[in-house]
Amino acid sequence: MAGNIRVPGDRGEGSLREREEIESLREALRYHLHRYFVLDDPEMADSEYDALFDRLATLEAAHPDLVTPDSPTQRVGTAPSSKFVEIRHEAPMLSLDKCTSLDDLAAWEERCRRLLDEGDALDYFCEPKIDGVAVSLLYRDGLLARAATRGDGETGEDITANVRTIRAVPWKLEGDVPNVLEVRGEVYMPIAGFHAFNARAQQVGERTIVNPRNGAAGSLRQLDPAVTAARPLSMFCYSIGERGAADQDWRPDRHSEVMDALHSWGLRVNPRGSRQADLDGCADYVEALLQARDDLDYAIDGAVIKVDDFALRDKLGQVTRKPRWATAYKYPAEEASTEVEAVDFQVGRTGAITPVAKLKPAFVGGVTVSNATLHNMDEVKRLDLHIGDTVLIHRAGDVIPQVMKVIASKRPQDARAVQMPGNCPVCGSPIERPEGEVVARCVGGLKCGAQRKERLRHFASRQALDIEGLGDKLVEQLLAADLVENPADLYRLTVDELAGLERMGAKSAENLLRALDASKHTTFARFIQALGIREVGETTARAVVTRFKTLNALLDADLESLQAVEDVGPIIAARIVGFFADEANRRQAKELHEEIGIAWDVPQGEEAVALPLLGQTWVLTGTLAVMSRNDAKAALSSLGAKVAASVSKNTSVVVAGPGAGSKRAKAEELAIEIVDEGEFLERLNSHGKFQGGNDEA
Ligand code: IVH
Repeated sequence: MAGNIRVPGDRGEGSLREREEIESLREALRYHLHRYFVLDDPEMADSEYDALFDRLATLEAAHPDLVTPDSPTQRVGTAPSSKFVEIRHEAPMLSLDKCTSLDDLAAWEERCRRLLDEGDALDYFCEPKIDGVAVSLLYRDGLLARAATRGDGETGEDITANVRTIRAVPWKLEGDVPNVLEVRGEVYMPIAGFHAFNARAQQVGERTIVNPRNGAAGSLRQLDPAVTAARPLSMFCYSIGERGAADQDWRPDRHSEVMDALHSWGLRVNPRGSRQADLDGCADYVEALLQARDDLDYAIDGAVIKVDDFALRDKLGQVTRKPRWATAYKYPAEEASTEVEAVDFQVGRTGAITPVAKLKPAFVGGVTVSNATLHNMDEVKRLDLHIGDTVLIHRAGDVIPQVMKVIASKRPQDARAVQMPGNCPVCGSPIERPEGEVVARCVGGLKCGAQRKERLRHFASRQALDIEGLGDKLVEQLLAADLVENPADLYRLTVDELAGLERMGAKSAENLLRALDASKHTTFARFIQALGIREVGETTARAVVTRFKTLNALLDADLESLQAVEDVGPIIAARIVGFFADEANRRQAKELHEEIGIAWDVPQGEEAVALPLLGQTWVLTGTLAVMSRNDAKAALSSLGAKVAASVSKNTSVVVAGPGAGSKRAKAEELAIEIVDEGEFLERLNSHGKFQGGNDEA
């Protein structure tokens, strides 16, 4: 041999640096395994653990002589703890290989094909990959005889007493069941149950659960089954242990057949499991499931793609406890750990002060995040969060990232406690926290720039006047250029003023003015909602305007008369009275009202002019060419009319555009007045509700 000089990258015992890295990876992995499985108190996200594990596996693959029997890579899962009786699995409980892209998935299929024969018809079964705990259920003569964890795949723990408390697990199967049946599946904590559990734990000051998976694992490891019974747990079954055992007549040929059988025997299988004819079908499945991820009531970390035909599975076999016939398509992890660099205090529309953690950017849920909400100071206290801490964060869907927990062992010496400022960081007004409330507020009201900005944003938002094109960015530009202070100013903007703004041409300026004009066709309820009074949303606003029909009436409403409104309790009544007691709010509401000019806000009493269409019911049918249906509805209701979906003898007028069918016929039959769009617009015009329309009309 040409000597024993080794060069980097050579297969062999590795450099000192690599040996050191291997050792430190093993040490870290052992530590985190213990935190995770024994203490149920993880200090890193699963994906981060996986990354360490993969790195170790890669290093060991390059230097096989450095693999030791006690390396964490040498066992799948965990050794059972001594709390429970050990159980040997008849057939080992396998784990899955993973892929993270459609290219990986195609490569996996390619590998399968190479091992199969020409004529083999390959099809698949796709399922959600449930983020819970793998459990084996043993049924003898249809009765639940034993339940075990997966453990290291060979040996698990007997958790029968705990699993018996899970309502989704039948004690007795129905129908014609094999004498001995081992069913495998995932025990999980439903997301709603997870939140409910944490809400309660917080209330009584007990430890919260980091994520649903940890919740499931911890619940199953209780020594007292009564504790498990009190936890919200469920189960999806996804396979059987030994199929076609020699002494049984049931010999399924396919996984899909097994799933149907399990279901028919009363076991729970995931309703989203589906057979796919080819890889394109699997790719669509993977995509669709990812889209649905946020709507599911259970956590998933991917999709599992399995070869459906057992004969083909046998041909494919397995490598190191991972079957070649299945793969897990992993989705972006929703958890990560990162550092808190600062805590900022944001001021909301109603002055609420929210502590926000400024994070060292972390990749989570498929995006890079650098902020996480801390909700309020009680939460900061509960988490015991300091600036400088390492934290576990969670981000699902479009929800703002949350801090799940602080990793106490990583707190640096110079970590600083978080302090709520005494004054608003934006306007300097005092911050107050009323007795018994968790939220502290800036008392500046409209004097506070942040509150003014948030009110404008709310005003333009979809829930309020839905002003197209007036997004957060533009609101900020308008404020920065001193073009607006409050919502009424929006209606006084000119093309010239707007066109002067960055990235805003004459055309977009005109569009915005048109959108502002259109927003005037609104209802009184929307108008009230748009003011941004605390706790006054759509439903409350609607209830309030049924009783107080004008702004003036509402401005002077007292607690008692407000509380007489259905659904308005003492708190909301106080919010409304409190809002209008503030002179700046009053002025703003009146000014805005003048700009928008809701026609029916006229003083009640002697000179009262009734709403012109009050008491009438209108029906819109067919196509409207000039006005959108929504605008038409808004205009009618602002004149006092009700808009109904169907024609009856109580209908006053039917507006029938081209294509009107049965409703028009019904109106004719009942001799109800029918008008076309032109006539309709003229009537609106006569009440000052429609000026001209567009040029082509
Ligand atoms: S099949 C050989 N199907 O993922 C196939 N596993 O990494 C073994 N899991 O330990 C499992 N949902 O705990 C399968 N629909 C599903 C699954 C699933 C979650 C878990 C299971 C297993 C791990 C494999």
